[in-house]
Amino acid sequence: MTPPALHPQAHPHLQLVPADGGFAQDLHQALRQRPRAISPKYFYDAAGSALFERICELPEYYPTRTELALLRRHAPEIAALTGPGAQLVEYGAGSLRKVRLLLERLEVAHSFVPVDISGEHLLAACAALQAEQPALAIRPVVADFTRPHDLPARPAQGRRIGFFPGSSIGNFAPAEALDFLRMAAHELRGGALLIGVDLVKDPAVLHAAYNDAQGVTAAFNLNILERARRELGAQFDPAGFVHSAFYNAPLQRIEMHLQSTRRQTLQLEHRSYEFEAGETLHTENSHKFSVEGFQALAARAGFTAGPVWSDERDWFALLWLQAPSAA
Ligand code: AVI
Repeated sequence: MTPPALHPQAHPHLQLVPADGGFAQDLHQALRQRPRAISPKYFYDAAGSALFERICELPEYYPTRTELALLRRHAPEIAALTGPGAQLVEYGAGSLRKVRLLLERLEVAHSFVPVDISGEHLLAACAALQAEQPALAIRPVVADFTRPHDLPARPAQGRRIGFFPGSSIGNFAPAEALDFLRMAAHELRGGALLIGVDLVKDPAVLHAAYNDAQGVTAAFNLNILERARRELGAQFDPAGFVHSAFYNAPLQRIEMHLQSTRRQTLQLEHRSYEFEAGETLHTENSHKFSVEGFQALAARAGFTAGPVWSDERDWFALLWLQAPSAA
């Protein structure tokens, strides 16, 4: 069956916040500074999003399947904590694969509010979900959830519950993670946040997860440069850069870089940028947490620690965090 069309016009609650669209500007800025670094948000054009979907299926990339198993196993308990008539808000909604496991279990949800910057992708995913759950009130918000945004009115009876899976919070700098948690604590006051976090573990496991044998993560990383060629006409020798990912133990994070294999020049919109052999463009940090460390961070934003669900190996955890009271 074809899912019903879900158009902005058909959605009185759809909120559109313009994307900043600053790839060219941010790339110039990244290449001017030392050390060179760019936001990982530029990974996710259509090609990069497709590569990320493939990463999630890789044998070495354990976070997605571990979190899905936790959600499957504990959905009844999570649904009971959520309670009836709740508004479920998913930050950075994407494909809606994980949230389905919760929505299926919820006792008459008030509404589901997926928030995502990629409008087209979000509306297509919402249409498919609506076809499966015709009675569910879906209120998509197209916005960068890390920036000020409005949400549809909170339920008069039930609570607002946030969902932020995938350890996406690990891609934020620590100060940005705190800012996000403070924003969420305010937005979810009286309710709670269910968040997925990747845990500190044997560096060999982490190394393998970001250096897969098939080279999909390498292609995902290199796609930032490919995107610069496609969209901005950047000129460089693609063979002159390689994927580099390693665990920075003192900072508890995987770092991804694009490393220049030799001295070379990258041309971007009439500007030339020199790379020395071995010099890198830092493209991503993926922070790993301890449960206690994350709960302490969340407490600084006003959350109170609740139940924690993790797998047998303690590789990944889902944390329930109680937001401050509504009053
Ligand atoms: C989206 N994010 C949580 C992924 C991560 O593991 O940090 C992005 C990723 N980068 C390389 N592989 C996956």
